[in-house]
Amino acid sequence: MYVHLPKQIVILNDRQVVKTAQQELVRGLSRMLGKSLTVSTSWTKGSAFVLGTFLEIHSRAPNLNFPGGLKTDGYWLKTARIHGSECLLIASNTDRGILYGVFALLSKIAREENIAGIGEIQQPFASIRWVNQWDNLDGSIERGYGGASVFFADGKVRGDLSRARQYARLLASVGINGCTINNVNAAPGVLENSFIAQVRRIADVFRPWGVRLSLAVDLSSPKIVGGLDTFDPLDPRVAEWWRMKVHEIYGQIPDFGGFVVKADSEGRLGPSTYGRTPADAANVIARALKPHGGIVFYRAFVYNHHLDWHNLKNDRAKAAYDNFHPLDGLFDDNVVIQIKNGPIDFQVREPVSPLFAGLHHTNEAIELQITQEYTGQQRQLCFLVPMWKEVLDFNMRSEGKDTPVKSLVAGDVFHRPTGGFVGVANVGMDANWLGSPMAMANLYGFGQLAWNPNLSTEEIVDEWTRLTFGNDPRVSKAVSRLQLESWRVYESYTGPLGVGTLTNILGNHYDPAPESSEENGWGQWHRADHEGIGMDRTVATGTGFIGQYPPEVQTLYESVDKCPDKLLLFFHHVPYTHVLHSGKTVVQHIYDSHYDGAEAARDFVSQWKTVEAHIDSARYQDILSRLEYQAQEAIVWRDTICQWIYHLSGIADDKGRIERVTKQNTLEQ
Ligand code: GCU
Repeated sequence: MYVHLPKQIVILNDRQVVKTAQQELVRGLSRMLGKSLTVSTSWTKGSAFVLGTFLEIHSRAPNLNFPGGLKTDGYWLKTARIHGSECLLIASNTDRGILYGVFALLSKIAREENIAGIGEIQQPFASIRWVNQWDNLDGSIERGYGGASVFFADGKVRGDLSRARQYARLLASVGINGCTINNVNAAPGVLENSFIAQVRRIADVFRPWGVRLSLAVDLSSPKIVGGLDTFDPLDPRVAEWWRMKVHEIYGQIPDFGGFVVKADSEGRLGPSTYGRTPADAANVIARALKPHGGIVFYRAFVYNHHLDWHNLKNDRAKAAYDNFHPLDGLFDDNVVIQIKNGPIDFQVREPVSPLFAGLHHTNEAIELQITQEYTGQQRQLCFLVPMWKEVLDFNMRSEGKDTPVKSLVAGDVFHRPTGGFVGVANVGMDANWLGSPMAMANLYGFGQLAWNPNLSTEEIVDEWTRLTFGNDPRVSKAVSRLQLESWRVYESYTGPLGVGTLTNILGNHYDPAPESSEENGWGQWHRADHEGIGMDRTVATGTGFIGQYPPEVQTLYESVDKCPDKLLLFFHHVPYTHVLHSGKTVVQHIYDSHYDGAEAARDFVSQWKTVEAHIDSARYQDILSRLEYQAQEAIVWRDTICQWIYHLSGIADDKGRIERVTKQNTLEQ
């Protein structure tokens, strides 16, 4: 199909990122099609791949009709007859866009798409498409399940950064343009002069792939690192310290992206120490970054983890909105409020954070978690794109208009200068980056959605599967099906009806331990007792959380009759005998969903076995053993949660399964 492709590449400049693009094209076509290409910087005659900016191509081919108004980093793949020969143009307004165009072309070829006569324009939905890594300087990664840090070991930047370089390549191949390399629970030491000199080496390996580096910082750094007696954001000495520090960083890393700040959260110090606001804290840093083009990502994950559990009006879900909505309009234009998708913490199912509609004069970005902290830790299959799609497509009806979350975060609704998507990736040194061969679909899917959230889940998973396992339709069908079912299955046995992930919240965030959510200050409460289950978050009788949404969304959630079953227990405390829209009682739904979920997890194993003859045995075996393990774990979850609900409610399963398990357990003891 690709015999007529040009045999030469013309690059119209020799800047670093365009060179990378050229090298990727040479390498990709040689590996996939066995073609060897010549490279030239002068465009004379003959058929060629032409890599350049619109301006550069225009100056050589003034008669071409160029697409207008493309967003930064958008690209144009175009077959055109130039100087009498058929050429394939890979053009953009930025060097990074040219690189993205090359990756897109290679992806099409890998998926055996017809590219004859191509004329395609692609542009990013938002300018911020970043990942965060929660890497510690000792080389461990908080909530990382794919091995040690690719950046740090033993308190220093690694000597060998080849994996970091590969990571930048991986990120660029899915359109990601920034990476924060260290844990949001930041070690102040990252701002020591000697450390910045080390970090510079990482920025140097990112740069050829157009990935900007940023750092998570501790707000008390002016005191701890700078030796001042304060870190009060309104103290002029503190402002000067940040200014000098930022100046020094840009001296080493001219394309530095900026800072991520976690403050007044889970024990981190913050502006509240001095009675100041997050706006005071964000702006003092933003002003230091502004002359250099840097951004502050200030995380909205600010809450009190010592809430009084006995007070039924207390609600952690309210914290982000309560803290940030009153400050709307007070943040500088190079501050972005980084908001987790849900109001609690990456649970298997949450409603969207009301804060997305609560900031009209402030930039925002959505924070999605690629690493599967609460969703199986890469030991269980949980493809998160279907969840993210639901979140991004959710219509907030802000000011009574169509305002899906994706448009709010991109800054389109309220005409903000910037905004977008941040994914907590946490890749590690494992050969497959995330620990499980299937988990990369989440990082790939994050990149695709950040570029174009209007893509369908099916398109994304099909593309990923073919790029990963090849184009055999038997394999792509089976893998896609597994991925597409996996989130709902995981939800069905770990946290149905919006109750939250019923895991050990005080320990590993993995095993079933529903009681660990209660009687402590962390606020991940489900309030299950002998009468009923769920958090009453209504305005009428509950915590009032629902009142943070725009009026039409409030109407949807406030009434127990209208509230969708999938979120019922997030918003309402109901008796176990409450009848759902499905016609089942809550308690029977919980029993059934756990049995169905465990059954579906078992069925994953048989589905996987159908691909044995069509896939390499290493990955086949690896995935098989993971799915077999998951089938066992699903039974552990099923039995733990069903027993717990049975003992609390005293209501029998109408299929008699729980009693049978109880009897069996008693006999075995
Ligand atoms: C979760 C996670 C922490 C992390 C925190 C955050 O609570 O368990 O490890 O530090 O989120 O996002 O800041």
